[in-house]
Amino acid sequence: MPAAWTPTSANRVIQGDNLAVVSALPDGAFTAVYLDPPFNTGRSQSRQSTTSVRSVTGAITGFKGQQYDRIRGDLMSYDDRFEDYWSFLEPRLAEAWRLLSDDGTLYLHLDYREAHYAKVLLDALFGRECFLNEIIWAYDYGAKSKSRWPAKHDTILVYVRNPAKYHFDSAEVDREPYMAPGLVTPEKVAKGKLPTDVWWHTIVSPTGKEKTGYPTQKPEGILRRMIQASTREGDWVLDFFAGSGTTGAAAASLRRRFVLVDESPDAVAVIRKRLDKAGVAFE
Ligand SMILES: C[S@@+](CC[C@H](N)C(=O)[O-])C[C@H]1O[C@@H](n2cnc3c(N)ncnc32)[C@H](O)[C@@H]1O
Repeated sequence: MPAAWTPTSANRVIQGDNLAVVSALPDGAFTAVYLDPPFNTGRSQSRQSTTSVRSVTGAITGFKGQQYDRIRGDLMSYDDRFEDYWSFLEPRLAEAWRLLSDDGTLYLHLDYREAHYAKVLLDALFGRECFLNEIIWAYDYGAKSKSRWPAKHDTILVYVRNPAKYHFDSAEVDREPYMAPGLVTPEKVAKGKLPTDVWWHTIVSPTGKEKTGYPTQKPEGILRRMIQASTREGDWVLDFFAGSGTTGAAAASLRRRFVLVDESPDAVAVIRKRLDKAGVAFE
């Protein structure tokens, strides 16, 4: 069992419920936090955890929004399913906020079922001035509905801890091909273009070398962009819904350090195998 984690520790992979694990990590230690939570979180685990971010007055502690409770109440009255989900997520987002450094950035990966509510609530929690982007990750794969527009995108909400101090370096980001290369100079075509807030990127190919077999694995290419823009070499990146460990793999390839947490023994086994294969050291 390794000693308690500090920023001088090695990269770490931890199995356990993330709320318990991350509450032991020190304030402000991470320059980026990426979270890709499952939508189908259960009622029983959600109810126990809600109180942990509330003060005796019932207000959320650690966050900025004063009207948060009212907004939360209004939104929850529309959608029971979202209430369960948010009750689970809220104390974990409070921890993410606490763990972010002053120049740090949260990337919260969601889909269309929750993104709109989550944005309203995060505006109230972090402060609207801390909203940086809504990234649309668009892909085109799998079955397509014929009765509505097939849903083929995820939403990644980006919030910074301090809008006056956050780190963002677009020059470090992998560039992509121009959609209409005939309209720009050959020099620009050769350099590629800076991605916008709409990211066309394939899902993990079922036959590609990146595939781990973990069902919800996200492509390393989208994690690379976040980490390149929002951290520097040597900075710490945290993912406490780590799944197959995509964040750790991307962080290590960019010479950033990482802490990964997942409650599933299967996930942790996949992460360990993946990092070992990539020659990445961790405890
Ligand atoms: C959508 S997956 C993450 C996939 C990941 N981004 C990847 O690229 O592989 C969500 C993960 O959260 C984990 N999880 C759910 N609830 C958790 C909790 N309370 N504590 C820790 N991990 C949790 C699940 O085991 C699952 O692996």
